[in-house]
Amino acid sequence: MKKLLAPSILASDFAHLADEIAAVANAGADWIHVDVMDGVFVPNITIGVPVVKSVKKVTDLPLDVHLMITEPERYIEAFSDAGANIITIHAEATPHLDRTIMQIKSMGKRAGVAVNPGTPIALIDDILEIVDMVLIMSVNPGYGGQKFIPYTLKKVKTLKGILQKRELDHVLIEIDGGITAKNIYDAAEAGVDVFVAGSSIFGMDDYGIAISKLRKSI
Ligand code: DX5
Ligand code: ZN
Repeated sequence: MKKLLAPSILASDFAHLADEIAAVANAGADWIHVDVMDGVFVPNITIGVPVVKSVKKVTDLPLDVHLMITEPERYIEAFSDAGANIITIHAEATPHLDRTIMQIKSMGKRAGVAVNPGTPIALIDDILEIVDMVLIMSVNPGYGGQKFIPYTLKKVKTLKGILQKRELDHVLIEIDGGITAKNIYDAAEAGVDVFVAGSSIFGMDDYGIAISKLRKSI
């Protein structure tokens, strides 16, 4: 399976968002990762539906929308209509995981489920058959630019083993938080398919160099 790079626009210059997205697209990004935070599920507030709608107009790349919000079921339709291609919800943020995943799929979108560093894989074991992607958080969600938490790779390996055993190889494993050219190889080895990177792309002067460095290290 091709390994995918998803720059997180959280680390970009929001005053020049269209240019920032064009720059990473030209530099070889595969998806655009959009971090939605509500100030309740996580301490920070970022962006919402109108920004996703605007971003959709300036790029053909798939929009990978990461909802760090409580009761995500209330907003699935709005983010879907705004142009999200992949919608990922947190397992900790809704008591109705199955219903919310099915809601995403009913809109014709790919459905992801995310787990925080402290959340065991066991929590999502029963719904692996119905998701398109699992996002393993490698930092506590809320902010860009945090340090990678190494033990989260154990969860990636555990998950990879479960997926292989149950012949769910089509389910993508995404990792998010603190990914750099130094640790991306270990993440790839552990079984990650999709790598989110904020600071290690938008924090660099040359996005082309940053992306090819990451890609070469996978
Ligand atoms: C963290 C967000 C991440 C973040 C990644 O809560 O979900 O997507 O933007 O940024 P870096 O790569 O800087 O850790
Ligand atoms: Zn994210």
